[in-house]
Amino acid sequence: MTTIQTFTWSDRYLLGHQSIDDTHREFVEHVRTLQEARDTDIPEALEAFIRHAEAHFTQENAWLNAPDFPGGGECHIEEHEKVLSSAYDVREVVAQGRYDVARAYAQALVGWFPGHADYMDSALATWLVKRSHNGRPLVFRRMEAV
Ligand SMILES: [Fe+2]
Ligand SMILES: [Fe+2]
Repeated sequence: MTTIQTFTWSDRYLLGHQSIDDTHREFVEHVRTLQEARDTDIPEALEAFIRHAEAHFTQENAWLNAPDFPGGGECHIEEHEKVLSSAYDVREVVAQGRYDVARAYAQALVGWFPGHADYMDSALATWLVKRSHNGRPLVFRRMEAV
């Protein structure tokens, strides 16, 4: 029997951009709900995850497509597309009663998220924070406030 690692939020996922961090907390919640759902609740939990992921990725993709984004956003957008298209595939299989596939998908998301947040969302968050503080890193602003 495989050990299920229940997904829980950790502050090590914090990236310093309020909206991204709030969205990521929601992401973790949705994945955990999907992991813990009884069979009969899986279709609804998966639907809620898909709605979340669509909004989450649409927002990030819009930032990545901003004309002043320094580039390299294509790989990031591609990862979002892969996660979503898998979710749509899983939805079809779940409709045939294959709830185990949804659980395996949730488990794959637990493995996927930390790396994605570290390598891709963190670059986006840093750029957004700098942009909203006129190009100055947040740490300077904090030091000036002391
Ligand atoms: Fe994200
Ligand atoms: Fe992302």
